[in-house]
Amino acid sequence: MEFSQYIEYELEISRADEPLVRVLQDPSGVTGCGVGSTVWDTGLVLAKYLDYQTSLGNLDLSGKTVLELGSGTGLVGIALGRLHPQCQVTLTDKEELVPLLNRNIELNSATDNTRAQCLDWTSPTSLDAVPDLIIVSDGIWDKELHQPLAETLARLAGSETRVLLAYETRKFDEEAEFIARWSQTFRFRDIKPSEQDPVMHSDDIFLFDGKRKIKVAE
Ligand SMILES: C[S@@+](CC[C@H](N)C(=O)[O-])C[C@H]1O[C@@H](n2cnc3c(N)ncnc32)[C@H](O)[C@@H]1O
Repeated sequence: MEFSQYIEYELEISRADEPLVRVLQDPSGVTGCGVGSTVWDTGLVLAKYLDYQTSLGNLDLSGKTVLELGSGTGLVGIALGRLHPQCQVTLTDKEELVPLLNRNIELNSATDNTRAQCLDWTSPTSLDAVPDLIIVSDGIWDKELHQPLAETLARLAGSETRVLLAYETRKFDEEAEFIARWSQTFRFRDIKPSEQDPVMHSDDIFLFDGKRKIKVAE
């Protein structure tokens, strides 16, 4: 894939030795990779929430596995891998985004603990291992994807998997429907603004912290 049309976006995180996460993105959409080729505001808020909680010592991911769904440019998952070098992060998206994810992993010299693979919510996928943490940033903007995403979460999350799901509110009724659907299999709480980065948070962006309601055989 040719990346000459892409421009770089930088996000600062709190790791003193390597504070910048860089990703290539295509804000003009000329490369035809769809909504995933740009950084979304929700991703920034979620990345900074993870950064803030890490800086407070509230997030221990040593030896854990993280799965990101609908990674887009990969900014959130790459930032998390940078914050927690001892965890293994898998970025996923539709097939056409995988070259961009791989390019952005390389750009951040993150190949030691971060990798990319195709995972399409509309085709059933299984994983080699149950992830400890699943993150989803702005995955419910399109109503057509609510059911596939909810089913993917239900299929891939184990009994102890923590799910962090974030979205920007645009169509309240549709989002409420997704939340109602999700609550059939998961219990979750909303993450308060006081728990989020003191600067990078928004009244329009909601973060949820969930787990399955019922244990499953693994
Ligand atoms: C609104 S974008 C958010 C991108 C990124 N998470 C962020 O916050 O910057 C939604 C993402 O979901 C991905 N997506 C859409 N349909 C999908 C599907 N069927 N399976 C997997 N990912 C999908 C898109 O390619 C895109 O990367």
